[in-house]
Amino acid sequence: MLPDYYEFFNPVRIISGKKALESIPGILFESGARKPLILTDAAIVKAKLMLKVASALKAGKISSDAVFKDILQDSSMDTVKAAKDMYIEMRCDSLIAVGGGSVIDTAKAANIMISEDTGDLHQFEGVDRLRSPQVPLIVVPTTVGTGSEATCAAVIYDPEKKAKIQFVSPLIFPKAAVLDPRMTETIPPKLLASTAMDALSHAVEAYSCLQKNPLSDAYAFSAVNLIRQNLVKSLENDGEREEVFALANAALLAGLAFSNSMVGAVHAIGHACGAVAHIPHGIAMGLLLPAVMEFNVRRAEEYYADLLLPLAGEDIYAQTPVNVRATRTIHEIRKLQRNLNDLCGFPLTLKDAGVTATQVREIAKASINEAALITNPRDMTVADAEKILMKVL
Ligand SMILES: NC(=O)c1ccc[n+]([C@@H]2O[C@H](COP(=O)([O-])OP(=O)(O)OC[C@H]3O[C@@H](n4cnc5c(N)ncnc54)[C@H](O)[C@@H]3O)[C@@H](O)[C@H]2O)c1
Ligand SMILES: [Fe+2]
Repeated sequence: MLPDYYEFFNPVRIISGKKALESIPGILFESGARKPLILTDAAIVKAKLMLKVASALKAGKISSDAVFKDILQDSSMDTVKAAKDMYIEMRCDSLIAVGGGSVIDTAKAANIMISEDTGDLHQFEGVDRLRSPQVPLIVVPTTVGTGSEATCAAVIYDPEKKAKIQFVSPLIFPKAAVLDPRMTETIPPKLLASTAMDALSHAVEAYSCLQKNPLSDAYAFSAVNLIRQNLVKSLENDGEREEVFALANAALLAGLAFSNSMVGAVHAIGHACGAVAHIPHGIAMGLLLPAVMEFNVRRAEEYYADLLLPLAGEDIYAQTPVNVRATRTIHEIRKLQRNLNDLCGFPLTLKDAGVTATQVREIAKASINEAALITNPRDMTVADAEKILMKVL
């Protein structure tokens, strides 16, 4: 059924494929930019991924001297400020993020501080608080999860509030997303699995949340299809390049979907897990997804039933009676989790991932304040969140 009203917007130029990195200088020239600040992190440098970016920039006569690489997982407000200071000190005119969601979101948040000319990021927290056009930001993702290269959101950890705070605005969209297979080939198996589960949770939540629309549905559906075709296979084949790159495209598609439809309780509880217990975002997503779906199923049955087709393929979809398709979809996600556990040690419980029983109440309470809950198909209380967490603990 069509929603009464919807909007869909995505201005990000997408460049995906072999030698995509070589297009970066041209995009910078078109924007009148010559001196980017490159944001990345230590593991990306260690994996020699920065060398490939530097070589593409050099070939296009763009300097790669300004590099900010002190970004930790789930980047914080202090890191964002340090990146902004370096941008100003080095007289840069644009940004390039090379990394996973933590690097990309740091670049987006630094861009807010630079473009709004502010020392206080808090002023811009929430939805539609930005006022100024942002400096050109080009994103080169190196994980296969967040889709942040094509979303209008940034998530940053605030140590004072002990919470992950969000910035959402159409001004946050990067100028370009550059997907190059050379940038995802070093991804270790467990990171591949956990970030792909983040992408799957984006697609499932986008397809079933209150702001879903026909365009976000199309992107979400295609993302799930690519994940079924490539996730398990890529792990069985030792990270075969084409399959991993298909997953990078799935993450992009899921990002395009949820950036317009928003997400739901998997992300509300998952962000709280990250803030309280500091577990990786994709692992929290993969663990919480089926449990939250069980909670939501009576409000989202039709949508979960649809997703059985891309998730399990035509035969299983056709053989499964209509009234049990939704529960079969949840079952297939649990089966996928067990498969990932066998293939790369993806945890099967929150405890295995590092969450303790004493943290459950705090996580449940924090999740209720998350914006993602607004679009969840079913209202959730602290007690509901606690029950979901206990199921997965
Ligand atoms: N803005 C959005 O739309 C959005 C959406 C979902 C999640 N997020 C945020 O993104 C963050 C998570 O990002 P993530 O899951 O991409 O992980 P990440 O960026 O935190 O990276 C995890 C680790 O993997 C390493 N790594 C990344 N790519 C690698 C590669 N190719 N080879 C070897 N090592 C590599 C990194 O250096 C890091 O140590 C969370 O903070 C989450 O809240 C943002
Ligand atoms: Fe996510």
